[in-house]
Amino acid sequence: MALGATLQSIPLFAHLREEDVNRISRFARDRSYPKNSVIVFEEDPGDSLYVVMSGQVKVVLIGEDGREVILSTPSKGDFFGEMSLIDDQPRSAHVIAMEDSQLLVLRREDFHQCLSEMPGIAIGLLRAMCKRLRQADNKIGGLVLLDVPGRVARLLLELADENDGEHITKRITHHLIAQMIGSSRETVSRTMRSLVDRGLIEVSRSKIGLCDREALETAAGRDTMGPAQRFHYDGKHDRRRRGNAPPQ
Ligand code: CMP
Repeated sequence: MALGATLQSIPLFAHLREEDVNRISRFARDRSYPKNSVIVFEEDPGDSLYVVMSGQVKVVLIGEDGREVILSTPSKGDFFGEMSLIDDQPRSAHVIAMEDSQLLVLRREDFHQCLSEMPGIAIGLLRAMCKRLRQADNKIGGLVLLDVPGRVARLLLELADENDGEHITKRITHHLIAQMIGSSRETVSRTMRSLVDRGLIEVSRSKIGLCDREALETAAGRDTMGPAQRFHYDGKHDRRRRGNAPPQ
């Protein structure tokens, strides 16, 4: 597929006219990053925006003791590196290749020129940033409101939903899960064993199957109430109040 057509299938550029997408494809440069290479260093000045064309990267914060918290794992069609181009602050996190990855790189000047001349980019950018804020809200909620089994259950549901809703085929280690939910590898291994023993999931070499979605959703604190209960307000669970239903 020509680069212009590929770019149009990426949400950031989806609202652009064909001629604008073709212009971007002339600005942009292709770069390959081998697995484990650091693409962006936290605190560096930002000079480029990156779009993932293939492979997968992780956006990560690394503590003084070397512990990592994974904020996000952008893959094909996702972009990163826009924050420091927009607010002129240093890079907010490291970005590291989790697999050999092919990226499209747009330099700061070209990105700014595109932004001023192509309003469609701003729409794509705002949508993507809203999505990220929702994911960050979800993560903060999970860290504060859920125990580790709840956080593991929520992550497994999210990963399965990226696939067919019932299986996770992406290779994911207990260590990686721990870094994604803010826990330790040992605790995650214990939790996964317990989920298998209770028949909620099954784990094979190549995939994880969700055997009991309902139980996982309950553990993950997802709202499984029907509409009748939604309007009941008990003073503690404000989130169940909808529309003009009066508090009781
Ligand atoms: P920038 O700060 O330029 O460099 C690091 C990039 O990581 C940042 O831009 C964003 O593109 C990305 N990033 C930072 N925080 C998050 C987050 N919470 N979720 C997804 N991506 C993020």
